[in-house]
Amino acid sequence: MAEICVLSSRTAYSTPGELGARIVAGEGPYLVGADGTRYLDASCGSGSLIFGHGDEKIIDALHAQSRKLTLFPSRLFSSEIVERYARQLLDFGPPSMSRAITFSSGSDAVEASLKLALQHHFAAKRPQRRKILGRNASYHGNTIAGLSAGEFVARRKPYEGMLASCAKASHAHCVACEFGLQAQTCALECAQSIEDAILEEGPENVAAVIIEPIVGAALSAAPPDPRYLPRVREICQHHDILLIVDEVMTGFSRTGRPFASMHWNAEPDIIICGKAISAGYYPLSALLVSEQVVNGPLAREKYFQNGQTFACSPAGAAVGLAVLGRLEDGSLAANATRMGELLRASLREELPGELINRVRGMGLMVGFDISSSGLKNRRSLSPGRCSDRFQRAALKRGLVIYASSGSARSEAGDHAMLLLPLTISEREVQEATASLVAAANDLLETENK
Ligand SMILES: Cc1ncc(COP(=O)(O)O)c(C=O)c1O
Repeated sequence: MAEICVLSSRTAYSTPGELGARIVAGEGPYLVGADGTRYLDASCGSGSLIFGHGDEKIIDALHAQSRKLTLFPSRLFSSEIVERYARQLLDFGPPSMSRAITFSSGSDAVEASLKLALQHHFAAKRPQRRKILGRNASYHGNTIAGLSAGEFVARRKPYEGMLASCAKASHAHCVACEFGLQAQTCALECAQSIEDAILEEGPENVAAVIIEPIVGAALSAAPPDPRYLPRVREICQHHDILLIVDEVMTGFSRTGRPFASMHWNAEPDIIICGKAISAGYYPLSALLVSEQVVNGPLAREKYFQNGQTFACSPAGAAVGLAVLGRLEDGSLAANATRMGELLRASLREELPGELINRVRGMGLMVGFDISSSGLKNRRSLSPGRCSDRFQRAALKRGLVIYASSGSARSEAGDHAMLLLPLTISEREVQEATASLVAAANDLLETENK
């Protein structure tokens, strides 16, 4: 651990000896440690590696394009591969989208989406519309604007004071409903809380609402009521506010559809893409922008004022095209649906309920809560400690999970996700289940001695 290089963001808060294995290779869905240990990686590059490691087609596409053309000044020229990629990316998304713009990371793209919404209203001569509305328990990347729009308490904490104030509506995680409702009594109060927040801020001041269609890091794979997103769409339309859907974690067939918002035909104004857009092989992200926005007031603007050096990358476009090529026949999306159902069913059946509960998700975005109620020494566990311990127990059983905390409006609430590649087989799903069950039993045993 002491040797970890200064570029690792872990050095600032490392705890020597805890997770110190050095990874030397990736093979399909596995990570291989320097000592030869193989880990089934269900964190999957935080959801990016939808084909696992060593995908020859993608590697070849990247090499071939890098030999031909790497970067060009996109304000002066265009390039065939970037244009072709933009067209195919639009074909992959919902039909209402008509412009694609590429960037380098999910956080870049979130930032760009907020700026696009602001520039849209600026061009429409409504410069007072500067407010962005987010939701409790959400994550929209690590830039100052993304952290401001999101509500992930632990990730925001060191930067409070510098963050912009963005009003927050309720999340839409039914099993932890902020209004204490059950399915039978629910009248979509969570969607109404968005309209209430808009009215509170003054609709004339609000530029955009930003939402994860299925919340990732902050709630671990929490899908909304099927009526939720269409209702939020109506509310935004009614108040002339742009609806931005952050699909950085949910896009590219992870949930069984090209984009999660397509499960509910929500037709947002802007879709944010990241992570799996390049299957993890290139730092790539994008915005898809609706016909209505592209041909609205923005059409009068000469530029979208958000130039970035690596936007419009031909190498990124080549990787993106290769990814779309592998997704276009829908077989991997179907596999995500099938394997996701299998995984959730076996986790519900086999995991000890006193430690793991509320197994949920869509497709291969699978989440659960980790409860300390089954642990004797739970009072000594500070927020996040329970998911940390469970993550370590899983590692010992050869499984990497995406552990997180902060599902309540605080740092408390432990949960985790499994984000396996879309190429995963039934045997590997069984392996993930067996490792997770063994890890849960190990933890119960050691903590309750
Ligand atoms: C929903 C969502 N938005 C934005 C981001 C930020 O993406 P990146 O880490 O590529 O900057 C993430 C990353 O986890 C995310 O899950």
